[in-house]
Amino acid sequence: LSPTHTAVASPAGSPETEASRAATPRHYLMCPPTYFDVVYAINPWMDPTSGVDTARAVAQWEELKATYEAHGHQVEVVDPVADLPDMVYAANGGAVVGGRALAARFVHAERRAEGPAYEAWFSGPGAVVGLKSLGQAVELNEGQGDFLLAGDVLLAGTGFRTTLAAHAEAARLLDVEVVTLELVDPRYYHLDTALAVLDDGAVSGERTLAWYPPAFSSRSQEVVRDLFPDAIVASDEDAAVLGLNAVSDGRHVFLTDRATGLHERLRERGFEPVGIDLSELLKGGGSVKCCTLELDLPR
Ligand code: ARG
Repeated sequence: LSPTHTAVASPAGSPETEASRAATPRHYLMCPPTYFDVVYAINPWMDPTSGVDTARAVAQWEELKATYEAHGHQVEVVDPVADLPDMVYAANGGAVVGGRALAARFVHAERRAEGPAYEAWFSGPGAVVGLKSLGQAVELNEGQGDFLLAGDVLLAGTGFRTTLAAHAEAARLLDVEVVTLELVDPRYYHLDTALAVLDDGAVSGERTLAWYPPAFSSRSQEVVRDLFPDAIVASDEDAAVLGLNAVSDGRHVFLTDRATGLHERLRERGFEPVGIDLSELLKGGGSVKCCTLELDLPR
């Protein structure tokens, strides 16, 4: 495939680069934050005294869903379960490759019941839209929080949640090459808080990602630099508002409106940032990507 997306070189000093990349329609799974709250703390973002406005969280979530739909993407919805306040973070529901879904097994007791809840969706309503459920993982696996598909490799985070044994299990059951990346900063406890795949290369022939190197061990930083020498590097400020917790359709990058520097970097590389206010969901330690499971159904 020819890299037809290559940004037209803009004259030096040109303030604006036209978005030049092609979007492809996507299929997402989301879970409304009906029961969202912060009543326990399993990551450094969560403060049970912070006071969550659940109605506001629902409004912000509806806005994200409507934004996806306005950009031509299809959104499935899984019923929220009472007493599972973190179920809104649908990315954690499973690891998905080529429309095959391996449901999560959560590290913390507070979220453990979400694994079977997502598995039930995968094998029920999910099957209707073409998903194939591989059942629930045996090893500790927090789904697309730690498993991000970048073309033909599955980037896999470890250090806080998903284990090395789970990486091996995913490689075997999803039949994909897994690249392990070690996370070292507790604020960036899931891979999707520190790295975003912007282009899987399916159309353009060239994979692109954005990341925050200090969140990774020095060995893993080398691995990323080797595989993705042109990756966008996010600033401390953009990482600290979870700007990397983003979803891309190849052209539009949906991310928090607060990561303004990253918006600029994305524009320079031919992407079109779409800013979303998810301030209530940030209180649980999540943003756009956390709320979105990419179903990766065969196109
Ligand atoms: N409170 C949730 C947890 O700590 C947030 C999960 C965010 N999801 C994600 N994909 N990073 O498990």
